[in-house]
Amino acid sequence: MQSKQSIHGSWANRWIFILAATGSAVGLGNIWKFPYITGENGGGAFVLVYLFCILLVGIPIMMGEILVGRRARQSPINAVRETAAEAGISQNWSLIGWLGVLAGYIIFSFYSVVAGWVLHYIAGMGTGQFVDISSDLAGQRFTDLLASPEQMLMWHTLFVLMVVGVIAGGVNKGLERATKIMMPALFVLLLVLLGYSVNTGSFAEGWDFLFSFNPDALTWDAVLVALGHAFFTLSLGMGAIMAYGSYMGKKDSIGVTVLTIGVLDTLVALVAGLAIFPVVFANQMDPGAGPGLMFITLPVAFGQMPGGQVFGFLFFMLVGVAAWTSAISLLEPATAWVVERFGLRRLPAALLLGFVIWLMGIASLLSFNHWAEIKMLGMSIFDFLDFITANIMLPLSGLMIAIYSGWALNKHITRDELSLSSEAAYSAWSLVIRFVAPIAVMIIFVVNLYDKLA
Ligand code: PFF
Repeated sequence: MQSKQSIHGSWANRWIFILAATGSAVGLGNIWKFPYITGENGGGAFVLVYLFCILLVGIPIMMGEILVGRRARQSPINAVRETAAEAGISQNWSLIGWLGVLAGYIIFSFYSVVAGWVLHYIAGMGTGQFVDISSDLAGQRFTDLLASPEQMLMWHTLFVLMVVGVIAGGVNKGLERATKIMMPALFVLLLVLLGYSVNTGSFAEGWDFLFSFNPDALTWDAVLVALGHAFFTLSLGMGAIMAYGSYMGKKDSIGVTVLTIGVLDTLVALVAGLAIFPVVFANQMDPGAGPGLMFITLPVAFGQMPGGQVFGFLFFMLVGVAAWTSAISLLEPATAWVVERFGLRRLPAALLLGFVIWLMGIASLLSFNHWAEIKMLGMSIFDFLDFITANIMLPLSGLMIAIYSGWALNKHITRDELSLSSEAAYSAWSLVIRFVAPIAVMIIFVVNLYDKLA
């Protein structure tokens, strides 16, 4: 058994790791995307499928990522290379790490643009611009924002700087400190908003929408969306969780830890749904409005409710914090790699990578206005980047992690590193990571691709 330390530092204790990984997992995916895809896919039945996907695909793959990271205690690219060396197999497996870092970069570039919108809405809500606003006007406001590259650039720049600032501090003074402040804040904000929606919104209607099982609404397409989202929401396939895992204590149980992260991530998504839909229903609005749910429907809904200005502001603060902690984990794997590879200190490494990401984000934000005409596979740059990451790179990367940790690595390495409580638990993990997860991912991968490209 190895017991080396990462040169980047280690989490102070197991709970910090759980909170940091939950911070990565809980993001725009939970609060912006999960409610709207649930809305679009008919509610309860979709939620059930999503839960299965988290349990049968997400959790086992997350365990695979963490075990590789913790075994080698290095950035994902080097962690895969080193574990491959230990197992006596080809170093080319480190391609998994490269794919992850690349996907993380691409995701960051459009994630930051959406996070920038959130910052804009924090400012807007905080200054009362949405009080009693009509749907038309709210729609117009959002359209105006998208039409203004200057505005978007300003918010995108601010967001990148916020992330670089934390990353530059390193694992203990940056990531850990941010986690300790932001995660409690996130949970408190979420509970306050839930309380508001229970008291002021149409709570029963919102609850029914999320939890009443209606099998007719369940389409094949919904299953694909649920599986793809399970990856995105757990931050899998991008090296983020692998990097965080490399700072984890040697004695902590990977199984229990990952289950806790999965449960917390899921709870946040469901509670976010319970905070959002009752507010939407209280104002007789449409729950299936797609991506505009958060930026058009909700501001209108909050704007019409008692105390809506304050709670709307708190809501966007919540989303902002969630996006921030997630984006930090997107930049960490590449930063750790640059530090290892070129011996740079954290600050120059973070600034350099932040600059590249900032430039890439500009392409995404221009695709809403000056570059709207540029189409790739018939999609705008923003949609295309979302598409190639969510539908191609993440499933591929997840599939490779499943094959790598389930088939390529020796059982004695995985058994030793996972240290599960019983041999039965290890066999269950092994079965799922070798068969269930890869087959499920291959199905979404192929069907999704066929669907999109046909
Ligand atoms: N899990 C984040 C969310 O649900 O918003 C998104 C994300 C963060 C994806 C970090 C990937 C990642 F590495």
